[in-house]
Amino acid sequence: MQARSPSSAGPGRDTPGPTMADTPTMNIPTVDLLDLASGEPARLERAAAALREAFGVFGLVFVKNHGVDAPALERFYDAFSAFVARPDAQKRPLGRADLWYQRGWTPPNTEVAVASNGQPDFKECYFAAPTPTDAQSAMEFPELYPENIWPDDAPPFFQEGLLTMGTALHEAGLKLLRGAALALNLPEDTFTAACEKAPHVTRALQYLPLGPTQVNTGILWGEEHTDFNLLTLLPGGRFLDPAGRPAPKPDDQSGLYLRTRATPDAPNGQMVRGTAPAGCIVAQVGQQLEILTGGTFLATPHVITAPGVPGWQRQSAAHFMHVHTSQVLFPLPGFRTPEAVANYAPPVLAGTYDIKTLVDIGLAPPAALDKLGYRHYDRLNRMRATS
Ligand SMILES: [Fe+2]
Repeated sequence: MQARSPSSAGPGRDTPGPTMADTPTMNIPTVDLLDLASGEPARLERAAAALREAFGVFGLVFVKNHGVDAPALERFYDAFSAFVARPDAQKRPLGRADLWYQRGWTPPNTEVAVASNGQPDFKECYFAAPTPTDAQSAMEFPELYPENIWPDDAPPFFQEGLLTMGTALHEAGLKLLRGAALALNLPEDTFTAACEKAPHVTRALQYLPLGPTQVNTGILWGEEHTDFNLLTLLPGGRFLDPAGRPAPKPDDQSGLYLRTRATPDAPNGQMVRGTAPAGCIVAQVGQQLEILTGGTFLATPHVITAPGVPGWQRQSAAHFMHVHTSQVLFPLPGFRTPEAVANYAPPVLAGTYDIKTLVDIGLAPPAALDKLGYRHYDRLNRMRATS
């Protein structure tokens, strides 16, 4: 599922820019998944402490011993690159508006948040679910649980690479969610139980090249936003030079930046680099985890800045873990302070939350909001019309 939500508190497009280039990563903690798996109290507490600070202050954590196969990720990016290079006419049948783009190809200029202000959309994407579709959930929310779709003649390792990466990220995410529960002194399965059989989805992204007249004009590859799901896993991306070859970043200004939470000293937060240490991946807090924890863990505003040189592309990927569509989103009992209740009331079904967000960002049609359990409303009208 698409995991962008327009940021209500974000700056204009021109705010992020080269001034962020030298911003350090500050002291974003790293969590070791082997600590979480060790069962040793001291190691568990070390991991829990890292998660408390990382998710509470920064909204993200660096993760080591995550299980994502780096060479396989490179192979997948090669396959994805080959797919993106195909003519639009070949990709168009995989751009499924009827599935709210939750599977297959997301063409450029599809998302409102990115296309706003008349700016072109500088990315195209591919969605697939690495976990099996739950039949009952699919009956209730068909557009959130479609079967995967694939190109007939997909490049080698396209399907396998995306699913393998998604599965590894999902497993890492489940471990982190158990750790997050421990960090908050909650039963270990608090979050993993809430996301069982949920509409988790893995996305490959390719940020497209800017032309010579577009660079350094404030155009962003990914506008600042917070993710609307529970937890997002980012395995790391790579740049492609103007010839389409993998290459080191072309300058210091391009890449992922995130905004820390507000403090009295920095009421707008601080923009810091989100680049993970070598060998680590990134996990980010989404809005659903923020709601469940009453804001103790805060969804991270983040932005993808484009390079200051034309012709470069960037490939990346994300796995979006969700709360199950039938779960209620509201602060858990221990987090229901008057402030949290005021901030997150009224309780809302996660599936409804998903649909509203997908409408807001232009992937689902506005009419989807008229059908939230009210399909029977027009029955009387139909009966009267035929009498
Ligand atoms: Fe995001």
